[in-house]
Amino acid sequence: MYKCKICGNELNIIMSFGKMPIANGFISSISDDEFLYDLILCFCPNCFMVQLGETVKPQMMFNDNYHFISSTSKVMAEHFEDMAKEIIDHVSDKKSPFVVEIGCNDGIMLKHIAAQKIKQIGIEPSKNVAQLAKEKGINVIEEFFNLNTAEKIIRDYGKADVICGANVFCHIEDLNSLFAGINLLLKDNGILFFEDPYLLDIIEKTSFDQIYDEHVYYFSGLSISELARRHNMQLADMAHQDVHGGSMRYYIKKDGLGAITDRAKECLSQEKAFGLQKIESYLDFKDKVDRICQDLKTTLAKIKQESNRIAGYGATSKSTTLLNYAQIGPDIIDYISDITPTKINKYTPGTHIPIRSHEFFTADNPPYTLLFAWNHKEEILKKEKEYRKRGGKFITYFPQVSIE
Ligand code: SAH
Ligand code: TMP
Ligand code: ZN
Repeated sequence: MYKCKICGNELNIIMSFGKMPIANGFISSISDDEFLYDLILCFCPNCFMVQLGETVKPQMMFNDNYHFISSTSKVMAEHFEDMAKEIIDHVSDKKSPFVVEIGCNDGIMLKHIAAQKIKQIGIEPSKNVAQLAKEKGINVIEEFFNLNTAEKIIRDYGKADVICGANVFCHIEDLNSLFAGINLLLKDNGILFFEDPYLLDIIEKTSFDQIYDEHVYYFSGLSISELARRHNMQLADMAHQDVHGGSMRYYIKKDGLGAITDRAKECLSQEKAFGLQKIESYLDFKDKVDRICQDLKTTLAKIKQESNRIAGYGATSKSTTLLNYAQIGPDIIDYISDITPTKINKYTPGTHIPIRSHEFFTADNPPYTLLFAWNHKEEILKKEKEYRKRGGKFITYFPQVSIE
């Protein structure tokens, strides 16, 4: 039986995906000793936090060989430039503002803050991506953020006006230590804001491939306001973001610093109306997942028989869940095209599909391509106009399998 990592209550199991390898664990050569863990999605009926039952040690996922580089997407680069503008606006009336970003990766956001000569620190434990951030002139502490790191930052730099993080809070298993550290590091009138894939989008769209080792938590306004409350803080605002298939940005302040906004109240009532606070609302999730996987496998088998060639696009961490759960391997997908240099010529975790460069994909011109990076669909369809003009077709699978 699994216990809630926030409140200790017994968890309800939503679904089990069976054994999984590390989602970003692309391998150089095929071997059968890959590390596997049980991927189990659970719900806490007490504090409403959706979370993994079993977790993987952070050092196994975030180290000096981390494969996710934020700046590979132009759309995300623009998104984070906007986020930086919001932060700069927020601190514009402060004398010598201090901004801390948790999980700054290659500096995609913080470089805009550094460019304004605003005092900033990025906390980034994955050394290879931390190096990319440093090359952009960002101050980086190469550690996992927790209560100890917060104490060290206060000692060396003082307290922060803004603490932020994108697609990282959901990675941090010890959220209680994270929030205790933030509460200590944040000035009394400071603001915390962070964004992560949004639970309501995941459940409504059945985008089950968002579920993998790095994503220990699947946040909603309901669970975040409960978590903030436990740390003498309060949810002040929420803003939905279109990126990564639907994300939510949460704004948190220390207790007693004003009322919650109307748009956040509206989000919370939508969550309640959908039933994110009740286990009953999650019970058909597995059936929906299984239906998508079955439809996709049937479609791929038919295409494979007809054309004998299917490529993949984007060796995403998400694809690890889809490929391993649906058991789609190199017998169906010939290779996956990806622009991340460190992924090229490696193999997908567990299923061992080779990864090739985008140049290889363009020269090969496969008749069908399965779009794993569906969250970057608009950007990719724009980029692949020529491929589609030549007759190439993309297969997608959310909310249902379709070919376009
Ligand atoms: N903010 C970027 C990166 C997201 S990937 C973006 O949205 O694109 C998550 C990043 O957080 C990784 O680079 C990982 O190394 C880092 N990370 C993971 N755990 C962390 C922790 N406890 N403290 C700080 N950074 C962490
Ligand atoms: P993400 O879904 O976790 O952001 O990962 C996207 C992956 O897709 C990453 O490995 C980079 C790759 N990618 C491409 O190969 N081409 C593209 O145009 C884009 C946007 C992403
Ligand atoms: Zn709980």
